[in-house]
Amino acid sequence: MYSENNKPQARVTINTLSKMKQAGEKFSCLTAYDASFGHVLDQAGIDVILVGDSLGMVIQGHETTVPVSMDDMSYHAACVANGMSRAMLMVDMPFMSYATVDNALVNAARLMQEGGAHMVKLEGGRSQLPIVEALSKNGIPVCAHIGLQPQSVHKLGGYRVQGREKSAADAMLIEAEELQQAGADIILLECVPASLADEITKNVDVPVIGIGAGAGTDSQVLVLQDILGITAGKTPKFSKNFMQGANSILEAIEHYDAAVKDGSFPSAEHIFS
Ligand code: KIV
Repeated sequence: MYSENNKPQARVTINTLSKMKQAGEKFSCLTAYDASFGHVLDQAGIDVILVGDSLGMVIQGHETTVPVSMDDMSYHAACVANGMSRAMLMVDMPFMSYATVDNALVNAARLMQEGGAHMVKLEGGRSQLPIVEALSKNGIPVCAHIGLQPQSVHKLGGYRVQGREKSAADAMLIEAEELQQAGADIILLECVPASLADEITKNVDVPVIGIGAGAGTDSQVLVLQDILGITAGKTPKFSKNFMQGANSILEAIEHYDAAVKDGSFPSAEHIFS
């Protein structure tokens, strides 16, 4: 990606994001699953591109993320990596690909070597501390995804807001701190009350990305198909169709990027209390 004076723009790294957090500046994150969209997101100024296992739903048409394999993640990550040059590339570790430390190390290395990931993301709190520690000690940047964890949907019995009861909220606050201590470079909060997300964001030094977690986090992430208004069925409360008022896909993504950075997204209608 080139700046106005035609110089290549520096790659976004974890240091860029940490400095932004310290300066009180928000950064943007959005999913992509192929090279064309990787390129458009990069052009629009998205800072972190997530190859999410949501591809199980939006690309493959499954009901959940559970059927997604390591081959799927590695393939789509490599496609996206080929299209982008500025953003940081975060890639999801799929269901059961990090059930043991050995599995996690082998599979995370694969996502970095074959898929071009700069950071891997895994779901889970306390139970994942040894995995986060092992990845971190081996030089693998990690995003720890807590709150609603879609890979556990069958265990949870559905998708619902997490951390509404005081005991669960207190546990999540501690969990975020423990994950940071274990070496997590980013915390991602999905579907938690805005007040809890604010507290966690203030409590940890690492950047916090939110989805359905209010406006107080350091960043927001959404699923690309949701913001383009092409998701089959109902879109979640926390999402917004940015095609409304945009003349092109690039413009819609630019509007999303700007709304995240100036704090106008999410607004009250997208937030859980
Ligand atoms: O898989 C995904 O796209 C995600 C985001 C929705 C956070 O994990």
